[in-house]
Amino acid sequence: MGETRIYLDHAATTFLRKEAFEEMLPFLKEQYGNPSSMYTLAREARQAVNTARERTASALGAEEEEIYFTSGGTEANNISIQGFMKSLGRKGHIIASAVEHHAVMDVCEELTREGHRVTYLPVDKYGRVNPEDLKQSIAEDTALIAVMTANNEVGTIQPVKEIGAIAREKGIVFHTDAVQAVGHIPMDVKEINADLLSFSAHKFNGPKGVGGLYVRRGLKIMPLFKGGAQEKKIRPGTENVPGIVGMGKAIELATGDLPGKMDKFSELRDFFIEGLLAMEGVILNGHPTQRLPGNINVSFTDIEGESILLSLDLEGIAASSGSACSSGTLDPSHVLMAMGLDHQTAHGSVRFSLGEGNNREEIEYVLEKLKPIVARLREMSAVKNRSR
Ligand SMILES: Cc1ncc(COP(=O)(O)O)c(C=O)c1O
Repeated sequence: MGETRIYLDHAATTFLRKEAFEEMLPFLKEQYGNPSSMYTLAREARQAVNTARERTASALGAEEEEIYFTSGGTEANNISIQGFMKSLGRKGHIIASAVEHHAVMDVCEELTREGHRVTYLPVDKYGRVNPEDLKQSIAEDTALIAVMTANNEVGTIQPVKEIGAIAREKGIVFHTDAVQAVGHIPMDVKEINADLLSFSAHKFNGPKGVGGLYVRRGLKIMPLFKGGAQEKKIRPGTENVPGIVGMGKAIELATGDLPGKMDKFSELRDFFIEGLLAMEGVILNGHPTQRLPGNINVSFTDIEGESILLSLDLEGIAASSGSACSSGTLDPSHVLMAMGLDHQTAHGSVRFSLGEGNNREEIEYVLEKLKPIVARLREMSAVKNRSR
């Protein structure tokens, strides 16, 4: 078996950073108390959860009481959207972007089956929604607007500030899936008028299986699970103390030097994009500037993205075709389709996502390796087409 030497799939997941791991360790060993109990061991666990809540709230511009810990982004999106729609006590209208993650899309589909109505907002060729389209889609019974902060496949950043302002003005609740954004671009729940915001630790060098939901003070959410008073009953169940502690440290570090980090990754991203576009038959997917600092998504014409990935893997390079969560299906990505790509171009897409540890030498190496891979695969596809 080969070995992954260059990891360019940070949008799928990231390594756990040392500082977060070290803060977690005692809570995996001797400090195993249940935060709900009364004795010293438990109080230490409670204190550690409180510290993580403080750090998380401060990173998002929220109040501590507005942060609810969950098992990750998927759960946060489910609790948020389903929980809010259930709390209405009536059927309502949801407006969601056509490029949401499946953790939002599938919830919307489920709610449609339950009798709610969903309008999917179209996006432009860069994957951005137009706030004017949003205004046009608002109806009497619109209860929720769900537009992600940044897309997991193409990295496009949505005009969430404008969207939040429209939602607030119309008295509609605004949910944003910020799983790809938190720790990567500045996030302030008040600035974008978010009512509900999801995030996930493993996308910013925290542990897997832990994340959270911001719920604006005073907003009512119906819990999806019953059985305990933890997280003010919104997410009952004994807290994942080590995970929460690790996330608290990771979010503090990830948001600590955002401007410096963003500059560094944007520069590396643009260098990579330039190198890719210098190759023949390469198309950039997503917005040229309104995109996550670490996201590169391109389509290689006449080649399957999967074939490139396999060849890259043989060279020890890890990347992804579209979203890791949807790989395993042969359907083209709903995001690329919503952006108007044809099936063939969508199938030729590869996502590279940068993160801690990546450097220019690695990108130069990948560009060097890609050239012969792409040439060989194009030749194979030309032979196949000739023999048809
Ligand atoms: C935009 C977005 N939302 C939600 C999720 C799901 O998060 P988690 O893996 O923590 O369940 C992901 C994960 O890829 C994502 O990219």
